[in-house]
Amino acid sequence: MDGLYAALRPWLFRLDAETAHRWTVNACRCVQRVPGGLALIRRQCHRQWPGLESEVAGLKFANPLGLAAGWDKNAQVVPLLCQMGLGAVEVGSISASPSTGNPRPRLWRLPSDEALLVNYGLPNHGAQAISRRLRRQRPFSRQGTLIGFNVVNTNYGAAAAPTSPAALVQDYVDSLTQLAPYADFLTLNLSCPNSPSGEGFFDQPGNIACLLTELQRLNLEQPVFLKVAPTDHVDQIDQLVAAVEPFEMVRGFHLNLSARHRKHVHLSNSDRHTKDAGVIAGRPIADVMNQCIATLYRRLPPGRFAIVASGGVSSAEDAYRKICLGASLIQLYSGLVFHGPRLIHTINEGLLRLLADDGFRHLTQAVGCRNRP
Ligand SMILES: Cc1cc2nc3c(=O)[nH]c(=O)nc-3n(C[C@H](O)[C@H](O)[C@H](O)COP(=O)(O)O)c2cc1C
Repeated sequence: MDGLYAALRPWLFRLDAETAHRWTVNACRCVQRVPGGLALIRRQCHRQWPGLESEVAGLKFANPLGLAAGWDKNAQVVPLLCQMGLGAVEVGSISASPSTGNPRPRLWRLPSDEALLVNYGLPNHGAQAISRRLRRQRPFSRQGTLIGFNVVNTNYGAAAAPTSPAALVQDYVDSLTQLAPYADFLTLNLSCPNSPSGEGFFDQPGNIACLLTELQRLNLEQPVFLKVAPTDHVDQIDQLVAAVEPFEMVRGFHLNLSARHRKHVHLSNSDRHTKDAGVIAGRPIADVMNQCIATLYRRLPPGRFAIVASGGVSSAEDAYRKICLGASLIQLYSGLVFHGPRLIHTINEGLLRLLADDGFRHLTQAVGCRNRP
């Protein structure tokens, strides 16, 4: 796999970023259809790391690394992704109605910064089509990988009439009803930075509480994570936690990309994309995300909520830093684009070494160890 990715990367990087992604997903679809394809990937990629197992939100994760939302938006290659040695795969974001997202181009690579500029605007096939795809899927061995669905309100485009609060809540209800039967965990994307629909609605903790009140009626069996805009403002975090704490199904937080990153991060080629709308993902946002993770961890009631962290993880050291600041789980996106699937193995092996260096026998001992009062 390593050699294959190294050979393909220069060729893929000559294509426009979205086209390269689509071709990669299509190639994965072909591999998973070929008899023996999944077994081949499993032999190349799957390992067990007993020191990295953990129980988070009542679920057993084989290791802390997950694939972040946005890579497999339409659940097209879940069987293959489950062979890659990941602890979890988060599919989506998925909305109740299909959406074409924002006009192209809407994804750019910034290779000298190991970053991506994203303005997708939530294109996806819609919850009904995706749940049909999941139903049709042949049984496959998951190798202990947990599957989550990231759900968001439909992006009807900038010209559409504003969505009413009731319709916005119903959008989440409809998607969750369709997708929950296939999920180990669910993530509510409450802060997509590329979509005008419902923009700012969930900045109000009261609106999050309204949504959760409606979702409670679904009696979901799976733990729910909230993907919210990153902040290190203590008051905002405290209000969010106070609004969410009564809802037992919510077991953690994940910090999303944000327009704020673009202003706060240094890019080596900053003039190049000044006219392109979008938000930055990847290495340049690592520090600003870490600061938000650290503040969030200190404000959370101990043991009640877990933190799922992403943002510029492309080495074991990057992942370990987030764990030591309080993250229980880590998600990857941009790092995989620039380093390939081998990164999963490299990070997990490296984490075992870093844990041993610090005298820990188990990953869970390290969570928050450098961020305690
Ligand atoms: C191309 C792209 C598409 C994304 N799409 C989504 C999405 O649909 N839903 C979502 O919650 N996050 C989405 N994200 C955010 C990622 O899930 C992740 O939180 C973020 O990229 C930070 O990780 P990274 O620095 O490793 O890329 C997307 C990110 C990228 C780069």
